[in-house]
Amino acid sequence: MHIDQASTVELSQRLSELEQQHQAFIDLQLTLDLTRGKPSSAQLDLSNGLLDTVNADNFNNDHNIDPRNYGVLDGLPAAKDLFGSILSVTETDIQQRVFVGGNSSLTLMHYTVWFAFHFGLKIGDQAWASQVADGEPIKMLCPCPGYDRHFSLCAQFGIEMIPVALTGKGPDMDQVEALVKADSSIKGIWCVPRFANPTGEVYSEETVTRLAGLGKIAGDNFLVLWDNAYAVHSLNDKAKPLASIDAAAKSQGTLDHVVQFGSSSKITFAGAGIGYLSSSEANVEGFTRNFGMATIGSDKINQLRHVRFLKDLDGVRQHMAKHAAIINPKFAAVTASLETHIKDTGMGRWSNPEGGYFVSFETLPGLAKTVVSLAAEAGVKLTPAGATFPNGNDPQDCNIRLAPTFPELEDVETAMAVFVNCVQLASIQQKIPS
Ligand SMILES: Cc1ncc(COP(=O)(O)O)c(C=O)c1O
Repeated sequence: MHIDQASTVELSQRLSELEQQHQAFIDLQLTLDLTRGKPSSAQLDLSNGLLDTVNADNFNNDHNIDPRNYGVLDGLPAAKDLFGSILSVTETDIQQRVFVGGNSSLTLMHYTVWFAFHFGLKIGDQAWASQVADGEPIKMLCPCPGYDRHFSLCAQFGIEMIPVALTGKGPDMDQVEALVKADSSIKGIWCVPRFANPTGEVYSEETVTRLAGLGKIAGDNFLVLWDNAYAVHSLNDKAKPLASIDAAAKSQGTLDHVVQFGSSSKITFAGAGIGYLSSSEANVEGFTRNFGMATIGSDKINQLRHVRFLKDLDGVRQHMAKHAAIINPKFAAVTASLETHIKDTGMGRWSNPEGGYFVSFETLPGLAKTVVSLAAEAGVKLTPAGATFPNGNDPQDCNIRLAPTFPELEDVETAMAVFVNCVQLASIQQKIPS
């Protein structure tokens, strides 16, 4: 039944069926959760071998660095080789242009913004804050829908967020270039370039090249904050590859304007993985110097564990195929439910990601909050509507992020049954208000 073609009688009849079904779900007293993109226990089990790789007899490593002691602030050389290869940094540059830190890439993003804001990222840069002192705000471009924590980070610094449209191939680059050219107080853009959170899109080669070129047309100290959190997280081996922004920036002479981030949070252990970044040699030097004010060094024992367990890019890819085998059925359950119940009804659209952790669903305008609260009433927790937009404000109130990796498959199926019922219920209620 298509919502725009059905008669009022048909819609009323369908509404009463959906209401009954909704009540039946409420009576089940479910407690299901499709909110945060976390790996499941079965995924975490894949990396248990990591815990056996370093012990009292074998902590010596190639460079004879004692990982138990202070120092090596920028990370073990072998860890730079491993994680730098995920960021497509060329071998000859890796040691100077990659920084390997502690357990979180978000921490490295926070520090990067903090350092750029207060001190200048590389030595000699003017701090963004000097612009604030001159009475001008700092602004950041935020492709939407996007990752909520990028937005809350900006909010914490008082950075004004400018939403930018996503096209399915990354941000609308005509809009981005026009904004950046017209306003030198824009100091950066957030990007999740492969299997974006939540849309799942992969930025096209043209988009990557144009983003790498922004440093040439932007105001001073502009940064492309390239959060490649899902760089190797494809659901199948035909998933779209991502062009290297490192190579694009190198050829355009803009490496100072691109900072890449990543972590093994969704490769090995979330919360006990390794975060890393890469940029120009000068930025990495500046970052390391500033980071040294906060710590004498990150956990090198965990870095060594990761090097031994994952070995190299091939090792990472083989390991990620095991993750894909676990989470593929869950993504398939989400898609199957949406195709069975929402396809051809005119009540919503959704992404079909080839990787990452999310499915992005668009309700009819004005219904996301209603659907989320109906689902909560029936025991299914969804990411709050609006969370994927700056300041929690989705102007169309239509985006809902579904995160199917953590619950068991059976629970994903039940949660989706509740969800599609709520979508239909809210859509028809809106069409024929009582
Ligand atoms: C786009 C994106 N970046 C970063 C993170 C967090 O990464 P980390 O655990 O390395 O801090 C997440 C986690 O959901 C994410 O979706």
